[in-house]
Amino acid sequence: MALLHVVVLLVLGLLFLHAPSCSVATDTVTPGNGLAGSSRLVSNNSKFALGFFKMDSKSFNYTNPYTYLGIWFNKVPKLTPLWSANGESPVIDPTSPELAIVGDGNLVIMDGATRSIIWSTRANTTTTDTIAVLQNDGNLVLRSSSNSSNIFWQSFDYPTDNFFAGAKIGWDKVTGLNRRLVSRKNLIDQAPGLYTAELQRNGVGHLVWNSTVEIESTGEWNGQYFSAAPELIGNSDNLTTFRYVNNDREVYFTWILHDQTMIVLSQLDVFGQGLVSIWMDESQDWVTIYKQPVLQCDAYATCGPFTVCNEKNEDPVCNCMKGFSISSPRDWELGNRRDGCTRNTPLRRCRIDDGSNTDLTDKFYAVQQVRLPNDAMKMQAATSEDDCSQVCLGNCSCTAYSYGKGGCSVWHGKLTNVRQRSDGNGEILHIRLAATEVPRAARKNSNAIGIGAAIGASAAAFGLMILGLMIWRRKEKWFARTQLGDIQGSIGILTFRYVDLERATKKFSEKLGGGSFGSVFKGYLSDSFTLAVKRLDGAKQGEKQFRAEVSSVGIIQHINLVKLIGFCCEGVQRLLVYEYMPNHSLDVHLFKASDTVLDWNLRFQIAIGVARGLAYLHTGCRDCIIHCDIKPENILLDASFVPKIADFGMAKILGREFSHAITTMRGTIGYLAPEWISGAPVTSKVDVYSYGMVLFEIVSGRRNSSQEYFNDGDYSAFFPLQVARKLLSGDIGSLVDANLHGIANLDEVERVCRVAGWCIQDSEFDRPTMTEVVQFLEGLSELDMPPVPRLLKAITGGSP
Ligand SMILES: *[C@@H]1O[C@H](CO)[C@@H](O)[C@H](O)[C@H]1NC(C)=O
Ligand SMILES: *[C@@H]1O[C@H](CO)[C@@H](O)[C@H](O)[C@H]1NC(C)=O
Ligand SMILES: *[C@@H]1O[C@H](CO)[C@@H](O)[C@H](O)[C@H]1NC(C)=O
Ligand SMILES: *[C@@H]1O[C@H](CO)[C@@H](O)[C@H](O)[C@H]1NC(C)=O
Ligand SMILES: *[C@@H]1O[C@H](CO)[C@@H](O)[C@H](O)[C@H]1NC(C)=O
Ligand SMILES: *[C@@H]1O[C@H](CO)[C@@H](O)[C@H](O)[C@H]1NC(C)=O
Ligand SMILES: *[C@@H]1O[C@H](CO)[C@@H](O)[C@H](O)[C@H]1NC(C)=O
Repeated sequence: MALLHVVVLLVLGLLFLHAPSCSVATDTVTPGNGLAGSSRLVSNNSKFALGFFKMDSKSFNYTNPYTYLGIWFNKVPKLTPLWSANGESPVIDPTSPELAIVGDGNLVIMDGATRSIIWSTRANTTTTDTIAVLQNDGNLVLRSSSNSSNIFWQSFDYPTDNFFAGAKIGWDKVTGLNRRLVSRKNLIDQAPGLYTAELQRNGVGHLVWNSTVEIESTGEWNGQYFSAAPELIGNSDNLTTFRYVNNDREVYFTWILHDQTMIVLSQLDVFGQGLVSIWMDESQDWVTIYKQPVLQCDAYATCGPFTVCNEKNEDPVCNCMKGFSISSPRDWELGNRRDGCTRNTPLRRCRIDDGSNTDLTDKFYAVQQVRLPNDAMKMQAATSEDDCSQVCLGNCSCTAYSYGKGGCSVWHGKLTNVRQRSDGNGEILHIRLAATEVPRAARKNSNAIGIGAAIGASAAAFGLMILGLMIWRRKEKWFARTQLGDIQGSIGILTFRYVDLERATKKFSEKLGGGSFGSVFKGYLSDSFTLAVKRLDGAKQGEKQFRAEVSSVGIIQHINLVKLIGFCCEGVQRLLVYEYMPNHSLDVHLFKASDTVLDWNLRFQIAIGVARGLAYLHTGCRDCIIHCDIKPENILLDASFVPKIADFGMAKILGREFSHAITTMRGTIGYLAPEWISGAPVTSKVDVYSYGMVLFEIVSGRRNSSQEYFNDGDYSAFFPLQVARKLLSGDIGSLVDANLHGIANLDEVERVCRVAGWCIQDSEFDRPTMTEVVQFLEGLSELDMPPVPRLLKAITGGSP
């Protein structure tokens, strides 16, 4: 009893110690009742706080004199500003600021001593009787005190680097207000940085650098998602929904977080990467679950001019080029590298006035294995390496050249976006330096430097690899503390502990299916969130490779691809965790006597969806992925029968063993293209072939290999052959699954049959690409009658 008493007292004491000025937290500023010092507003749901803050700069050996007014998550002890009011006009020590509502009804930050105004909402208030409220969604609203709909100003209209759930990014077409995300200048300075994410008035999203350079575009909104950024859709789970609106008055993009207890940060960071992080109570830290671009080097000009970005993405990512030094070490350390590096020795003065350009004393230094920046000028006239270097020397603003397959390329002015490749490929970039900066050996013999640099690079790579492994280990331990329940709604890839997956799957008790490489079990994260956990049996791959592959597969997202949520790699255990698909796989609906028959419309939508997913795998993502195992079992259906291709990473993860496994598993009349069987190298056209075979099954509702087709050694009833015949005779209707009772759009049936006929051509060159397939199916382009494949003719012993 006494002990309890002491504890209670202690807790009370601690409370008082921590919040000395804290009366009852309020969410409102009223005239005459402002905010100063460490007092703050707290939204009524306790999720957000508003007050004055100063970023901690201790780890940078730097005294930060800047104070800002901002909003942050009330329960996150690690200060993470979500919005700041006065990024461009900070309060500078030793000024102590106050937040108040002034005479005209505006909200201002003023100097507590002189009362001079540092920042103001500068709204056209129609009444002086205003209040400022920090709402439950994190929006600070200045409004009439008597009428809550009469809003004069709100922080959601002036976002900084965080995309609040419920806020809009886009245009108010009436007032011309453009709400966009702007990165911050550096890790502690809240002034605007160089990256902005915005919608243009036409509704296309853009990432822009320094207001002028368009780095990336989302493509147009096609009704469901941005055509070039399919990952921004939501709806696939119950946790977030994305919404896009384009009408006469406004065009914007927003997202809704359904679980208000989740703390999600959606930010455009100082390096130009967009990230989504979730706060983990367990580990008291942010976990980044989504990053775009994934590689920091893919972020435009992230290292600044005259740097080399290391694609290995390991510390330090940015380095100065040979002969250059960091322009401003403090800015660089704080994450602001816009000034990059500067020359140690200036170039000799160019003499261009007499036109002779005789002062050719600058030298070149060769950087190996480079991914060249794409703003080169092509010099067609220079046909040898020597010519090329002379062209560059002959122009004072030329800073580098490269002579390779594409001929002679030169660069002028600031050289940005030079990247060191991690795969050993790449080209040689010759950077122009004052003669004294180039090592003697390099000047005499350019081969010697080539070899030296290559050896140096691989030794360094080895060092980095070891470092990388150590980081992985550390992360692994740290991840282990995160709990399953916390990861709902993840958009990236996570590591799981085996024990957690064992618990989630109730000791692997509910088997959903099995295959040549493992079994799939149902798992439960919580009442509302279900998983499919695949336990791989035969994967004896190295841990590092397994993880590397998984993480590359994990970032591939498309509405028609099953989402990999995470994996587990402990001892001999290899597990993959996917979203659960309540409607199972396509074969269940096509071939099994289930009570629901897929109507034609659904079948057609499924055919198009699968084609889109495959087209994305083949061409849309960074490294082309060949699925190698397209069949109805690998086409899963979500709650609304949207098809999702499963196992698309298996060939990549399991490599040759896997390919071997499926070749030996199959008969000849299946989904396998002839080149598989002949042992020829496979291309993405093997998927096209298998896809064609699946199309036939979607039409007929029966397996192509079904025994009904093969009575008495007569193979002429083989469905693909029937299709070939009936396409010619025009009797399409009789091909359609009898279970549909003749209810089908025959135009679409014919289109599907023609596409299928082309997909199964013997020669891969005769088959369309998946992108073409999508166009054919959507009716955007026309298709001729497909010839009957020779292989089919052979099977049936001659005439179809
Ligand atoms: C604040 O929240 C409480 C419940 O937590 C509710 O009763 C009250 O009405 C809310 N106040 C406002 C102004 O929304
Ligand atoms: C911090 O900066 C001061 C002066 O700028 C310098 O003398 C000191 O060595 C630095 N300390 C560290 C740990 O970098
Ligand atoms: C405020 O009103 C003035 C005069 O009517 C107008 O020029 C200005 O654009 C308005 N400002 C805002 C923020 O609406
Ligand atoms: C409150 O303000 C809104 C927006 O200005 C206005 O349309 C509405 O008529 C006002 N309501 C009252 C009761 O004044
Ligand atoms: C989403 O939530 C609703 C109600 O909370 C539930 O009925 C529905 O099944 C959920 N959908 C998914 C895909 O989890
Ligand atoms: C951004 O653009 C402006 C003018 O367009 C230019 O003066 C400035 O140097 C650019 N900033 C950087 C970091 O290149
Ligand atoms: C050097 O190159 C720049 C950029 O192409 C060009 O504008 C300039 O005229 C060139 N100078 C000479 C002397 O050729």
